[in-house]
Amino acid sequence: TGSENNKAPGSTGGANGMNVRDAIRQPLWLLAELTYSCPLQCPYCSNPMDFAAVKSELTTEQWLSVFRQAREMGATQLGLSGGEPLARPDLIELIREARKMGFYINLITSGVGLNADKVAEFKEAGLDHIQVSFQASSEDLNNLIAGTDAFQHKIEMARAVKANGYPMVLCFVTHRQNIDQIDEILDLAINLEADYVELATTQYYGWAMHNRDQLLPLKEQLERAEAIAHRYQDEQKGNMKIYYVVPDYYEDRPKACMNGWGNVFLTVAPDGTALPCHAARELPGMQLPNVRDLSIREIWEGSNDFNRFRGFDWMQEPCRSCDERFKDFGGCRCQAYMLTGDPAKTDPVCSKSPDHHLILEAIERGRMEAAKPAEKAKPLVFRNPKNSKEICG
Ligand code: SF4
Ligand code: FES
Repeated sequence: TGSENNKAPGSTGGANGMNVRDAIRQPLWLLAELTYSCPLQCPYCSNPMDFAAVKSELTTEQWLSVFRQAREMGATQLGLSGGEPLARPDLIELIREARKMGFYINLITSGVGLNADKVAEFKEAGLDHIQVSFQASSEDLNNLIAGTDAFQHKIEMARAVKANGYPMVLCFVTHRQNIDQIDEILDLAINLEADYVELATTQYYGWAMHNRDQLLPLKEQLERAEAIAHRYQDEQKGNMKIYYVVPDYYEDRPKACMNGWGNVFLTVAPDGTALPCHAARELPGMQLPNVRDLSIREIWEGSNDFNRFRGFDWMQEPCRSCDERFKDFGGCRCQAYMLTGDPAKTDPVCSKSPDHHLILEAIERGRMEAAKPAEKAKPLVFRNPKNSKEICG
C-alpha cells in the first residue's frame, strides 16, 4: 500500500560510509511507458510477460502531473516509449506540455502509426528526437520478427524524420536471427542518412528471456559483427555515429545497470507503477508504488522499492568488498534475480560471481539450440496479448 511504500529508509551506513540517504540523487531521466499497446510482436521485447493483465492506463492529466513533478525534482530527459507510444491519442498534447516544462523529449517508436503529418506536428509541438527502431535490414526478416508488415512504412517514416530536421537515430536490436546482417543494416542506415545508429544488443528480460535460447548470438557471430561494426565506425567517422555494444553474456564484468538502482532513472509504467527500471516489476518483494497514490518525491526518496538497492549496504560478497562496486554497482538486479532467484546477488555476468557458470550454461544452451535442424528448432514466442494470457494466466 501507499503508506508502506513511504517508510523511511533503514540503512545505517556501510563500509564506505555512504548510507541510503546519502545515495539519493535526482531522477534525471524519466522514462514514461505510455502504453503496453503495440502493433508489433517482437519476441525480444523487454516488457513484462504479463503485460496483458495491465488494464488501466494513466490519463493525460495524470501523465502531465508525473512530468511536472519529475521536472520539479530535476529531471531533464523525457523518454516516451511503450509498447508503442503512438497508440496514445494524446501523444501530441503530452509532447507540447512536456516541452513547455523544459524537457528534452525523445520518442522511442517502431514508426507504425506514424505518418509524415504527425512527424511535422510533433516537431512543431517541441519534440527533440525520434528514435525509429527496425527489426532487420531486409523486408522479410524485419516483418517476420515484428510479426507484421512494417518494413516499407518504417523506411518512409525514417525519411520523414530526416526531412523534418530531427537528428536521425535508428535503432536495431541485434540477436542471433539478424546479427549476420550487420553490414546490410549499416548500409541501410547510410542509405537513410542516419546521424546515429544504435546496434543495441538484446537484453534478456521479459519476452527476450523467454526466447533466450533462440536469440542469444553465437560467439563467432559476435566476433564477425564486431569486426564489421568497427570497420564501419572508422569509415563513417565524422558522418554517422555507430554505437555497438557487446552483449553482456560475453563480457566478464557486468554493466552498471541503470547507472545504479534508483540513481538517475525513473520509469513509470502505463498503469502508473513507478519503477527503478523497466524490468523491476518482476522482482520478488517489490511493493510497486503507484503515482496515483503517492507523489514522485515520496516514491523516489521514501519508497522501499527505490531504496532497496541504493548505496552499497545491500551487497553480498564478492561485490561487498570489491573495488569495482563503485563503477558497476554489482551489475543488474533483474538479471541477478532471473538467473539466481536472489536479486541481491552479484550479477552472474561477473566472472567473480559464484554463479557465473549460469551464463556459460546459457551460452551453451543457445549453441545447442542453434545446431538443431530447422524442423526441431524451438519456435520463437511472440509478444502479443494472446501469448501473454496463455503464459501468465
Ligand atoms: Fe562488480 Fe561485484 Fe563483480 Fe566486483 S564482484 S566486479 S562489484 S559485479
Ligand atoms: Fe532492472 Fe537492470 S534491468 S536493474
